[in-house]
Amino acid sequence: MKVDTKEKNGGTAKGARRLLPGLAVGDGFTRHPFDLEFGVRTSGLIAGRHLKSGHRHDRHNTAYYGVAPSVFQAMVVRWRRSRPVAPIDEFTFVDLGAGMGRAVLLASEMPFKAVVGVELHPALARIARKNAAAWRAAGRALVPMRIVCGDAAEFRWPEGPCVAFLFNPFRAMVMRRLLKGWSKCLAGRAGELDLLYVNNEQERVLERQAGFERLFLGEVRRSRADAIADHRILANQADGEYASSSWEDCSIWRWGG
Ligand SMILES: C[S@@+](CC[C@H](N)C(=O)[O-])C[C@H]1O[C@@H](n2cnc3c(N)ncnc32)[C@H](O)[C@@H]1O
Repeated sequence: MKVDTKEKNGGTAKGARRLLPGLAVGDGFTRHPFDLEFGVRTSGLIAGRHLKSGHRHDRHNTAYYGVAPSVFQAMVVRWRRSRPVAPIDEFTFVDLGAGMGRAVLLASEMPFKAVVGVELHPALARIARKNAAAWRAAGRALVPMRIVCGDAAEFRWPEGPCVAFLFNPFRAMVMRRLLKGWSKCLAGRAGELDLLYVNNEQERVLERQAGFERLFLGEVRRSRADAIADHRILANQADGEYASSSWEDCSIWRWGG
């Protein structure tokens, strides 16, 4: 990757944007093979404490990290086998905490009705939009795709069946607010919201929420290539606070109304 000198030096020159901590080579930044293969920008590990947008939910942000493509694809395959209420082309896919949009890009290659990414941090949302434009230009997107910059708990659900994707974006407080909002706005829409949850740290919050049925709970393995890539990236992190493993703990839930 060609690195702009202003960025390499912290981006302090007039007009230059400072890179978020975790995205500079000096922070141990390593590109994921997904980015090298497709010419997009989804790599990097940014701790939640560095993701300040000014929103009251900032302090519940876990981190930015792109999902392993193999885990994402395995979860969608598992979900499609779970007898969703309608065919996939009637579902809108919504990534709550979309980051730079890796899951959104992957979902746009599948025959959903539409794909939406919701991201709280404006710089990440901006990168996700650029990635979406590059993906479209390369002819990879099969369906309409858009990125909304805002809070997941305030997202207004479109009409019709939806599948929400969460890659451990926030802690319990936001998860509770999200579920409270869903139970109000999804009343009478049984089966119209399925939830795919990767690295399901707030599983307990879901277990306590009436109205959801769990369809799957277990480990989803990364492909060998993804396991090697994630291990290499996480071994290089500046603070050494995130661990890597060859699987993700995951769950799939269905809203019963
Ligand atoms: C672990 S990353 C997942 C990125 C993406 N979903 C993927 O799988 O590649 C979690 C993302 O959620 C975002 N996030 C955290 N809290 C949020 C909130 N309340 N609303 C929207 N996005 C949020 C973070 O800024 C971060 O980019």
